[in-house]
Amino acid sequence: MRYSKEFFALQIRFARVVVALTDRPIDEVLLDYTNIYVRFGLGRAFDRDDPTWRRYADGLSQTADISDWTYRFYLEQKTEAPRAQIVKTSGCFSYARQGPACVRVHFRNIEPAAISPLSIDRLPERLAELRALFDHVAHNQQEATRVAGTSWLYNLRAYRRCFPQAYVASAVVAEARFRNMPLWGQFLDRNGLVRIDAAEDFVRRLSNVKHVRDLASCFPLQALAVEAPIEDFYAFYGLAAGGRHG
Ligand SMILES: CC(C)(COP(=O)(O)OP(=O)(O)OC[C@H]1O[C@@H](n2cnc3c(N)ncnc32)[C@H](O)[C@@H]1OP(=O)(O)O)[C@@H](O)C(=O)NCCC(=O)NCCS
Repeated sequence: MRYSKEFFALQIRFARVVVALTDRPIDEVLLDYTNIYVRFGLGRAFDRDDPTWRRYADGLSQTADISDWTYRFYLEQKTEAPRAQIVKTSGCFSYARQGPACVRVHFRNIEPAAISPLSIDRLPERLAELRALFDHVAHNQQEATRVAGTSWLYNLRAYRRCFPQAYVASAVVAEARFRNMPLWGQFLDRNGLVRIDAAEDFVRRLSNVKHVRDLASCFPLQALAVEAPIEDFYAFYGLAAGGRHG
């Protein structure tokens, strides 16, 4: 998915406030407080000496319009590298292993533009995808005992209803996710455009920030971390551990 210029502009606006509060250079702040490094397809090492990042950072000092430079640079990059550690994808969902005992769930919209992926109409499809995903876990990750996730999406009833109750009930705020889509994704709609209401709310809150410690509260929704035993998932999707269907 190609993200809109406004999505980058919103993050740059946030970075400028961080610069004003911390007196740090803009390139460092863009690396530490925005999702731009990931969106350039550079992975998640956040290496300030990465040659592509250096080329981008050098250009910052030579442009009058950082948003424009950033978006042109983004469009020049290859399509994003898939996350290396993903084991299996099923429709909008995928999972990665996190150590031997835990699987981590990810979401990415793959529906056509006109379809609301989290709508009640599409709920049977989402549940079928998750059932297939956890069937794969049951067959291939026998040592897994826990399931974890982190996302702003766990604030939405439309997303929570796809998962077992104990999992969504375990939600705690995940601090300092400024580099990650589990926080910034709340400003996007399914077509990669900025959600006007959420962005306006964010900008309004941002204009009142006086301390670095208040930056997280500018985000209308927080990233939430959730975790639950894998048996809850097998029961919820009608599966049995080890791949024997219940
Ligand atoms: C997740 C995503 C597809 C939702 O987009 P969308 O176009 O709103 O999708 P839907 O139409 O299915 O919306 C589902 C519901 O959530 C609501 N919703 C979506 N984003 C919201 C937000 N930021 N704040 C409040 N409600 C929101 C919608 O209004 C809708 O509610 P409704 O059914 O009561 O009207 C989109 O935000 C996205 O692709 N984000 C980027 C990727 C991302 O964040 N991935 C997760 C990384 S961890």
